Amino acid sequence: MKKYAVTGGNPLNGEVTVSGAKNAAVAIIPAALMIDGVCRIENIPQISDVTMLLNILKKMGAEVRTVNRNTVDIDCTGVRTSRATFDAMRRIRASYYLIGALLSRFGHADVAMPGGCNFGGVRPIDQHVKGFTAMGATVDIKNGIVSATTDGGMRGTTVYLDVVSVGATINTMLAATLADGRTFIENAAKEPHIVDLANFLNSMGADIKGAGTNVIKVNGVKKLVGGFYSIIPDQIEAGTYMAAVAGTGGEVVIKNVIPRHLECISVKLREIGVTVTEGDTSVTVKRTRDLKRANIKTMPYPGFPTDMQPQIAAILCIAKGTSNITEGVWDNRFKYVDELSKMGGNITVNGQTASISGVPYLTGSPLKACDLRAGAALVIAALCARGTSEIEGVSYIERGYEDMIDKLRAIGADITCIEDPGDDDEDEQTAKSAG
Ligand code: EPU
Repeated sequence: MKKYAVTGGNPLNGEVTVSGAKNAAVAIIPAALMIDGVCRIENIPQISDVTMLLNILKKMGAEVRTVNRNTVDIDCTGVRTSRATFDAMRRIRASYYLIGALLSRFGHADVAMPGGCNFGGVRPIDQHVKGFTAMGATVDIKNGIVSATTDGGMRGTTVYLDVVSVGATINTMLAATLADGRTFIENAAKEPHIVDLANFLNSMGADIKGAGTNVIKVNGVKKLVGGFYSIIPDQIEAGTYMAAVAGTGGEVVIKNVIPRHLECISVKLREIGVTVTEGDTSVTVKRTRDLKRANIKTMPYPGFPTDMQPQIAAILCIAKGTSNITEGVWDNRFKYVDELSKMGGNITVNGQTASISGVPYLTGSPLKACDLRAGAALVIAALCARGTSEIEGVSYIERGYEDMIDKLRAIGADITCIEDPGDDDEDEQTAKSAG
């Protein structure tokens, strides 16, 4: 079994470069299925969710060529199947974007669904289905396979989403791209990766306007053609390193970011006593004094991101006073709290709110990550703690963070990866999607 051993107490200093956005990459790779010709995608993060999706495309008949570590050429011209029902798909949440892409290209899709959920509840897809159905598809979900068919292809229409959903916005946008006519997606999500997907599709010949607002207009086009695209930097990876520096102290320049995407995080870090200075493509995070309490509620973009909730909770454990964090997106995203409590964190969860009374220090402990961002939070907590922590469940972390160990070591963290060859990596077998 693979574990991270982290000895806390070192302030972080230096520079760290952020990789391409996971949640943009996992939408853009399935979107490549709709393109005639080769698309070159740059700034693609080397994480296991990306590797799994590229393997799925290959199994479907796509040609995937690695140009360099963060660039791939994908050619889906030869894909003839609208079936993607491989076992591997049940391990990656974003495989559901293949439904929208295949419906757009072929007018039908059979896609295996992710088998479970990392936040402890069912993650519904009713709004995705609502979008597909409104556009003329009949959708049937049986034995973990989503089968969607149309009579002659998708048709443009107005789709009103009942909840602000990143996944449903993306899937509806994919399905509408090659549809007949115009689609309005109302009450759309506005996350940076939604804008990035729209920019990717537009650069390949799509006609999408309004991404980043709550109404997206998609004029269906006949075909998309190959081209080049570079994925935006990962907002949450950047935020994770920002939180790490806030927790440990020190001064780090976080490079290759879009500072505007980080404002929701920067504002909160300033409120708790951290200095955040924006450059054109970087933010510098510096902490020299004690952290102060804060109240935080997670919300869809541009609100404070749910995907930063565990990481900020980790550092509020050592802030002065009592902080309240309310989770406004997911029903159950506090499973990691037990691990922080083991380290001496004083946290009480009541419904959707965690109340955190700051303690002078955390203590290193054996820990287990239960999902991607929970894993990141445990790494941060361990970096701030006295003593050494061993963190299990690192395959979750590696699904979404490129080279986390090397990046942290380069700025002074005492973190190593240890392998116990005698122990099966159960996490590898059981870990579900990163996001
Ligand atoms: N929802 C519904 N019906 C639907 C879809 C969603 O009720 O059909 C609800 C969900 O239960 C949730 C809320 O709407 O309460 C928002 O869910 P959303 O659809 O926005 O989430 P998602 O698309 O499944 C993406 C990210 C998550 C991130 C959320 C929210 C990807 C691959 N995943 O998930 O990322 O938490 O948006 O921002 O883009 C992560 O990266 O660690 C991660 C979990």
